[in-house]
Amino acid sequence: MKVITVRDYTELSATAGQMIADLLRSKPACALGLATGGTPLGTYQYLVERYRAGEISLQQVQTFNLDEYCELPRSHPQSYYQFMYDNLFRHVDIVPENIHLPCTDSADLQAQCDSYNALLHATPLDLQLLGIGSNGHIGFCEPGTPFDRETFHTRLTDKTRQDNQRFFDSLDEVPTTAITMGISNILQARAILLIASGEAKAECVAQMVKGPITEQVPASALQLHADVTVIVDEAAAALL
Ligand code: GLP
Repeated sequence: MKVITVRDYTELSATAGQMIADLLRSKPACALGLATGGTPLGTYQYLVERYRAGEISLQQVQTFNLDEYCELPRSHPQSYYQFMYDNLFRHVDIVPENIHLPCTDSADLQAQCDSYNALLHATPLDLQLLGIGSNGHIGFCEPGTPFDRETFHTRLTDKTRQDNQRFFDSLDEVPTTAITMGISNILQARAILLIASGEAKAECVAQMVKGPITEQVPASALQLHADVTVIVDEAAAALL
């Protein structure tokens, strides 16, 4: 794992954004795994600025998001589909057919997991962008998820729902389940870029980087991958 410590969130976003922009320039038809949550917002903002400056294009890119809440229609302001449009897709030249997120608007969630998983197998990811949950989750792979898991329907822990409550009016409105890529899907990406900011992430970042490899800390599985870059600000790096 290559760990890059930067001063603050602004520098973190520019460093991560630059890595993605470099990939877009060297391989315009790449497959990008994308993440949601508060942390990637600055990275997406950076990419939008590079696009507006005419420095990058997403016209040939295919994107695959890590996860999507169940129990919310795609039109809900807090669905990850909406999040991605609001913060990246509607501001750049990506082709809508090339945008992929798990579809949770269906009675047969297992079939949706299977079709998303098949899509991931058909299109190997050049780079997977990740955040990290304060309990060490990646995507929505919560502690205890077997490392060989592929796309699945998962129940969110109370901790994750509480952490994500800030995006909703009340805890009751936070979905209880989601469809997520499995750890195995994430590890199949050619390269992985994980970003973490703020002191609330210091403990899980330390466990991911130097703790034992254990299913209790899903992000520790990244120690098994040969090309992982972790970008952290000083607050998130405090326990390294
Ligand atoms: C959610 C997402 C994760 C993300 C995590 C951390 O649970 N499913 O992909 O990494 O939140 O989010 P934040 O960046 O807001 O701390």
